Amino acid sequence: MSEKIKKNKLSKSWVHEHINDLYVNQAQKSGYRSRAAFKLLEIDAQEKLFNNVKTVVDLGCAPGSWSQVAIQQVGDVGRVVGVDLLDITPLHKLNFIQGDFTSQETLDHLLHAINHREVDLVISDMAPNLSGIKQVDQARGAHLVELVLDFARDYLKVGGHCLIKVFHGYEFDNLVKSAREIFTKVIIRKPDASKSKSSETYLLCKDKKQL
Ligand SMILES: C[S@@+](CC[C@H](N)C(=O)[O-])C[C@H]1O[C@@H](n2cnc3c(N)ncnc32)[C@H](O)[C@@H]1O
Repeated sequence: MSEKIKKNKLSKSWVHEHINDLYVNQAQKSGYRSRAAFKLLEIDAQEKLFNNVKTVVDLGCAPGSWSQVAIQQVGDVGRVVGVDLLDITPLHKLNFIQGDFTSQETLDHLLHAINHREVDLVISDMAPNLSGIKQVDQARGAHLVELVLDFARDYLKVGGHCLIKVFHGYEFDNLVKSAREIFTKVIIRKPDASKSKSSETYLLCKDKKQL
């Protein structure tokens, strides 16, 4: 079989799998921008993440489905600030900042958007651009999680929660340990909507301690 035919077959089976993906269909029907919405909805249904939450920071928010969920949950008086490297189609009620969360410039914009005040909830679905080199990718992913934890340490209210995407890798245990220094309870969640073949998982960090 020629390489071209093989490639075509593979991409057709990917398209088939994608179209039949229950969550992709459901996202399209419900008006969510991606299937990722169901990961957050599922965790929220179990953990009541948005209880009494008015201000949310959504890191790595593109194309915007977690922000859509957050906007619905915080209601008219709430505020959601989203950050991503990529631009997004504007979303009503989302204060969007395009930039690299690891840069001081983007952090300054974010701090300005939250008036340098503490927020009620931090959610991060950031995933690094993959280089294909396992150790480099794991280190990049771990660095993003460390920065989210730093942000939560400084700008999440005491008692607040933080949900962070983490990839299993050599830094995983250290990241959980760091999270436990800041939060009373740290739970590892793998929502049904997260593909089983993906090594992604979520750290649900609950009840920020008084530090
Ligand atoms: C899985 S997607 C997020 C999906 C999103 N939660 C949703 O529901 O639509 C991961 C996002 O993280 C963003 N990202 C990765 N590294 C980033 C960084 N350093 N700063 C900002 N965004 C980043 C990527 O651009 C990508 O859009």
